[in-house]
Amino acid sequence: MTITATARNSGNDKTVIDRLQALLEEDLTQVETLLAARAKSPVDIIPDLSGYIVSAGGKRLRPLITLAAAKAVGGTRHSTHALAAAVEFIHTATLLHDDVVDESDLRRGKPAAKSVWGNSASILVGDFLFARAFTLMVETGSLEILNILSNASSVIAEGEVRQLAAQGKLDLPTEDYLAIIEAKTAALFEAASRAGALSGGSEEHADALAAYGKNLGLAFQIVDDVLDYGGATSVIGKVVGDDFREGKITLPVIIARRRGRTEDHDFWERALDIEKQTDSDLARAIHLIRTTGAAEATITEAEAYANLAKSALKSLPESPWRDVLGDLADFTVKRAY
Ligand code: IPE
Ligand code: IPE
Ligand code: MG
Ligand code: MG
Repeated sequence: MTITATARNSGNDKTVIDRLQALLEEDLTQVETLLAARAKSPVDIIPDLSGYIVSAGGKRLRPLITLAAAKAVGGTRHSTHALAAAVEFIHTATLLHDDVVDESDLRRGKPAAKSVWGNSASILVGDFLFARAFTLMVETGSLEILNILSNASSVIAEGEVRQLAAQGKLDLPTEDYLAIIEAKTAALFEAASRAGALSGGSEEHADALAAYGKNLGLAFQIVDDVLDYGGATSVIGKVVGDDFREGKITLPVIIARRRGRTEDHDFWERALDIEKQTDSDLARAIHLIRTTGAAEATITEAEAYANLAKSALKSLPESPWRDVLGDLADFTVKRAY
């Protein structure tokens, strides 16, 4: 796909994730076994719905980060697998809730769980998976890890609420946008990476890996936000324009509006008021985001965070794990093209 006229990279999107999955195959198999086992329940709708989303083919980015972080500073053990599964369950629970809040109909290339089972079931099964994540965290035997992930869980919820309050607020400062995405997305990447380091047995490298995770998460969400204005549904597995239809103020909009002409200001004001938005507005928004260079500028911002993520890895001992984590930071930006 092409968001900008000058693609800076045309690498194969899947390479790094594939490499990580291959490198971590044995560990990942154990994590997948835990995910499948812990999604079970005698209450019918729970395994149906949770099995549906768990097996829908997510990238498993966050558990891969946990596992690779542990490997980079020591190694994985059973508790690392429980931790990685907990991280993926927290992520999955937030997706089930998020699709209800965002009224999104497609997730992981399939109808969202809430479109199949309804909003109530999606929220309740999200709660179930959250609770199962806490059981898994307890199984790590580490209060410190429990503390990190439970803090991250409340920060994510705060981020989602903060975003709700910012809906349609056209003058949202960039700092507020960054605070929202740091909470709703980067907090879990940070926790996954820090807890991975601790699980690998290293207090020493925990701060560096936390910084890596946080900056990677920021880059990842910024790219996700630009893909919402020009990605291909077949690539992102979601419907393009969901953020726009919700009046969500994201970086591409903030930049395009700032750079726009007076008549474009009037357009953004009307179109991001969801009561006044019309069907043809998305095409104009995408056009403005491209022609003002806002897409390119947004990707440049993501690249800056990806570079911070890579810098944070410098203090780690040299290893293939450190290298692949660095490549993952590059990949988050490449996804934009
Ligand atoms: C989606 O995350 C939610 C965001 C933070 C943008 P992913 O893109 O990692 O979702 P899956 O797990 O691969 O479906
Ligand atoms: C992702 O938010 C963060 C959480 C799910 C907490 P988004 O709403 O931007 O993610 P997508 O676009 O639905 O995947
Ligand atoms: Mg959403
Ligand atoms: Mg959302």
